[in-house]
Amino acid sequence: MWSSSVTTGAELSIAEVTAKSLAKEFGTPTFFIDEVDFRERALAWDIALKDAFGENAGTVYFAAKAFICTEVARWIKDVGIGIDVCTGGELAVALAGGIDPKKIELHGNNKSVAEIEKAVQVGVNSIVIDSLYEIERVATAAAKAGIVQQVLLRLTPGIQAHTHESIATAHEDVKFGFSIASGAAWSAITEVRKRPSLELRGLHAHIGSQIVGYESFEILSERLIALLARFRDEFNSELPELDLGGGYGIAYVLGDETVIPAEAINALAASVKQQCDFHNLKVPKVSIEPGRAIVGPTMFTLYEVGTVKDVTLENGAHRRYISVDGGMSDNIRPSLYDAEYTAILANRTSTAVLVSSRIVGKHCETGDIVIREIDLPDDIVPGDLLAVPATGAYGRSMASNYNHVPRPPVVAVKDGKARVIVRRETEADLLGLDI
Ligand code: LLP
Repeated sequence: MWSSSVTTGAELSIAEVTAKSLAKEFGTPTFFIDEVDFRERALAWDIALKDAFGENAGTVYFAAKAFICTEVARWIKDVGIGIDVCTGGELAVALAGGIDPKKIELHGNNKSVAEIEKAVQVGVNSIVIDSLYEIERVATAAAKAGIVQQVLLRLTPGIQAHTHESIATAHEDVKFGFSIASGAAWSAITEVRKRPSLELRGLHAHIGSQIVGYESFEILSERLIALLARFRDEFNSELPELDLGGGYGIAYVLGDETVIPAEAINALAASVKQQCDFHNLKVPKVSIEPGRAIVGPTMFTLYEVGTVKDVTLENGAHRRYISVDGGMSDNIRPSLYDAEYTAILANRTSTAVLVSSRIVGKHCETGDIVIREIDLPDDIVPGDLLAVPATGAYGRSMASNYNHVPRPPVVAVKDGKARVIVRRETEADLLGLDI
């Protein structure tokens, strides 16, 4: 749950800086990101892919949607992995961070013509095509730019991954991609081949997010490789690439399973090799797109407690409501996906008995809950600090200005030093958009 430079024994500290001093310097709520931990996780996936696939290792594309800012893009560039972007905005940040366009892949089920043209013009490595309309749009943009654009096709392999409905993406009844079962995938393959400004490099699928078992990935490789075999049989040539998406799960609360990069990728490689042997195919270059598994555990959110109140429930039990100075505007995941988190008292130790508590935000909604059920020390008072781990993925990136709450900053901590990499929004920022 916690990143490698965090210690939680007494007062919480990250890279030797205490939570109390961080709160004093940067205020709350704030996201703190562990730079060393981020780089180590990114590298671990890269090493796992290279070790397991050898010369057939494609690229680890960090899924920018999990969290991106210019400084993090620079870290990605340093580590040497790629980045997957799904909008013009994410592309702009990746480029601002100096990422080589040849390490960028563009996704999205409804990319605008402007986004496609920009991607083609800057020379992204590949565009993952999601619909028949897009085959035409990307082909036109590439022709206009006078280039041949490398593309992959996003397929829907009909897999029910075991995760929350809103973050499962590869069963039939979804907006993403071309269905294999219906024949849409095959039609898309033949359509792309008719366009001289497109080069079909391979197939792509992403089965969903926060997946902890390997079974769904094995079924995925089986289905995509069967299609690679059909392609070879039909056209007498082999597609050189396979991108199996992201989705690797992390631990949010005690007892949650977490995916170990080497284990996951070894299992994937074994399955890919077995399927390729079965079909007598060369192993294609395999790429992956982890987002959550890289940035999720590297960040935590620090909140300050503002109010505490006890209520008596219908069954006579008591619940303590602890209100913090953020909430659903900096972490929508509990309300959106029933996501679970944990928290600890971060500014001091306490030996008080634990009481059944609920951590809530400051927004005008009953559903503004950070943690529905947690046992916390009885002596928590306004002014105490609570740290919530593993908020790096889809926390800040899905933050909103609900109730006109300015979004929190992101502060990077490394070797005893902390620095702002995304500043806190101000009321002036909020008012700045109003005419
Ligand atoms: N590749 C594609 C094409 C994706 O759509 C996604 C996530 C990823 C990679 C990265 O998946 P990851 O490794 O981070 O699981 N907002 C939700 C998650 C939505 C994920 C959308 N796509 C959440 O907070 O759980």
